[in-house]
Amino acid sequence: MSGRIPLAGVVGHPVAHSRSPALHGHWLRRYGLAGHYVPLDVAPGDLAEAMAALPRLGFVGCNVTIPHKVAVLDLADTVSDRARAIGAANTLVFGPDGLAADNTDGEGFIENLRRNAPGWSATDGPAVVLGAGGASRAVVTALLAAGAPEIRVANRTAARAEALRDAFGARVTVHDWNCAGDIVSDTGLVANTTSLGMTGQPPFDVPLDRLSPGAVATDLVYTPLDTTFLSRARAAGCRTVDGLGMLLYQAVPGFEAWFGLRPEVDEDLRRAVLPA
Ligand code: ATR
Repeated sequence: MSGRIPLAGVVGHPVAHSRSPALHGHWLRRYGLAGHYVPLDVAPGDLAEAMAALPRLGFVGCNVTIPHKVAVLDLADTVSDRARAIGAANTLVFGPDGLAADNTDGEGFIENLRRNAPGWSATDGPAVVLGAGGASRAVVTALLAAGAPEIRVANRTAARAEALRDAFGARVTVHDWNCAGDIVSDTGLVANTTSLGMTGQPPFDVPLDRLSPGAVATDLVYTPLDTTFLSRARAAGCRTVDGLGMLLYQAVPGFEAWFGLRPEVDEDLRRAVLPA
């Protein structure tokens, strides 16, 4: 790229809370690479202009976060199948063919489980997904691609769970939110994709005493790192995987595409990214 130092960043609004600059900054320093990764606060009305300007300013790509993950698809020249299925992008690459949009959230979700719950496979049995928002769509897409035989979705707003079933087909089954505690037996995986239990949000209040001890439980919430959901799952005898790993693993493909090196996820990185 014409000797320019490659730039990348995270485009959001607000964006100050994002851990992505700490994450990519750690990797850039660790591997001694020339490059910078910066937070970019872009208001919704300025997104199209920003996307046109960034490549001209030396950006090789960027992450996109709330509120731009859906809107950016309309600005992309190519959209990966998984980003199309999820209906949102989190990783953009600016290349010779323009703006390529991808979504690596589901890959991060699966990789986090594979690394931290060795032996777990999506094909082991039904999965339960609590929640039916944007994060849930990424998780459901990835679990289906990984061969989950059934995905039981329970969401406070039933219509959103039904929309997932309509989009993804009969392997997705819809369950009443008030009975979510009843669908967690005989499963290989239970994932919380709701914001319940996150610092500043209402507490996680789904009973998990019927959870099968053989299941793996994972929470997408990572503030706090050890959530009520995870401690309840541990009490039921399950292996648990916290949500920070998903954030770390979803970042790997972007970093590799922008800076040319596939980075490692390790304890040092976790420490660098953990919210203070
Ligand atoms: P994300 O992109 O992180 O998935 P989202 O699309 O806003 O964010 O989805 C948040 C999820 O948390 C949804 O499943 C939401 O349920 P609704 O679809 O009914 O809104 C769930 N959620 C948030 N607050 C909740 C609460 N108090 N009780 C139950 N579910 C809640």
